[in-house]
Amino acid sequence: MSRTTVAQILRSSNSPGSATVKGWVRTKRDSKAFSFIEINDGSSLANLQIIVDATIDGYETSVHSLRTGASIAVEGEVVASQGKQKWEMQAASLMVLGNSDEDYPLQKKGHSPEFLRSIAHLRPRTNLFGAVFRMRSRMAYAIHNFFQQRGFVYVHTPIITASDCEGAGEMFRVTTLDGKTLDKSPDEDFFGKPAYLTVSGQLEGETFACALSNIYTFGPTFRAENSHTSRHASEFWMIEPEMAFCDLQEDMALAEEMIKYLVSDALENCAEDLEFLGKFVDKGLLERLKFVATRDFERISYTDAVELLLKSDKKFEYKVEYGHNLQSEHERYLTEEHFKCPVTVYDYPVEIKPFYMRRNDDEKTVAAMDLLVPGIGEIVGGSQREERLDVLRANIKHHDLSEEEYYWYVDLRRYGSVPHAGFGLGFERLLMFVTGVSNIRDVIPFPRVPGSAEF
Ligand code: 4AD
Ligand code: MG
Repeated sequence: MSRTTVAQILRSSNSPGSATVKGWVRTKRDSKAFSFIEINDGSSLANLQIIVDATIDGYETSVHSLRTGASIAVEGEVVASQGKQKWEMQAASLMVLGNSDEDYPLQKKGHSPEFLRSIAHLRPRTNLFGAVFRMRSRMAYAIHNFFQQRGFVYVHTPIITASDCEGAGEMFRVTTLDGKTLDKSPDEDFFGKPAYLTVSGQLEGETFACALSNIYTFGPTFRAENSHTSRHASEFWMIEPEMAFCDLQEDMALAEEMIKYLVSDALENCAEDLEFLGKFVDKGLLERLKFVATRDFERISYTDAVELLLKSDKKFEYKVEYGHNLQSEHERYLTEEHFKCPVTVYDYPVEIKPFYMRRNDDEKTVAAMDLLVPGIGEIVGGSQREERLDVLRANIKHHDLSEEEYYWYVDLRRYGSVPHAGFGLGFERLLMFVTGVSNIRDVIPFPRVPGSAEF
């Protein structure tokens, strides 16, 4: 049986006439002569109100015993409504597809995010998570649009890999051996050598940029870092463009353009969900997004940022010191209190950055950049890559990596090396930014964090 979605009905300008809708019961009220049922099928935030006359066939057996959470199919006439929505439905027949048990956990009252995380299999049925996951889908689509419109080629880099791109030792091992055998004879393992889940597709992405010029990846990445923050997940998605014939300036410009593009796309295409999120999750959301979509971002060098932080009167928990990573509180001070807008910090000290970043002429810093946004901090991390063979070789050695293992990466510098640059945008961080949701666990369908891999 064909169905009309709730969104199609609610958004139509002329009366759609008769239709069949299917969905889940959000609420039901019975009066003597009628029942009022609100159903939702996920196509829109708003529910469709259905009025069921007590005289329809099977009213006593089906409609009366219907509970919140049940799935139904209703055929009827769409008519103008006196209520909140433009249209409602007058049921001619109603079929119960699956009733719901009495202990259905999503009754009308609001629930805490912690409780909803414990029922991650049911939480997409709430207004909040419906909105978040519709937006997650739209943003994924908009990311592909952004790159495809600009002629970037989408590359699938491997999920299982032998190289630790970021050199932070935060890799999940992939093995078919038990612990004892793994220790004794690691080369008996499935791939004949140690293998891991990737932390980044960048290195493999570079090989494709050095052939197709402009490429991007968009896939899952994994980090075994034991960070218990609201911004770190063990499994998250990353978007990594890589551009040949490109320097740090162009790299920063692309990152800024991309953030603006995605925010504008959300404002244009997710208006209903954003209005809800702005009302119930983050009061300043819409204003902030409109501001970000139209205003220029700031840029500041790491050295100047450190100086600025040292001069501020703000009391930080972590000391600000040249040569150390900026902490989230420092990043937030820059975006929220000092500049009051997104900021790109560039040219970081060589000691705190991975082997592949390009050494600047000052010999002290590398051509790295982090794009920081209010409320979150780092959302993008990127750099120009070291394209000079001798400097890269020295870096590999300096980082105690084996040139043999990275021979293919070094080869890119032996055969037609070019200046190139790229960055990684954390997809969930972007979603936190555009939805106003403050915990990364609530923008991932089934979040994986230290100590928890439920569902
Ligand atoms: O700054 P990161 O570590 O950079 C890279 O991985 C580079 N290889 C990217 C590149 O140049 N191609 O990570 C990039 C972004 C961060 O800015 C952050 O948004 C996100 O990935 N990210 C995380 N998101 C959620 N949970 C985590 N544990 C994350 N770690 C990084
Ligand atoms: Mg980073």
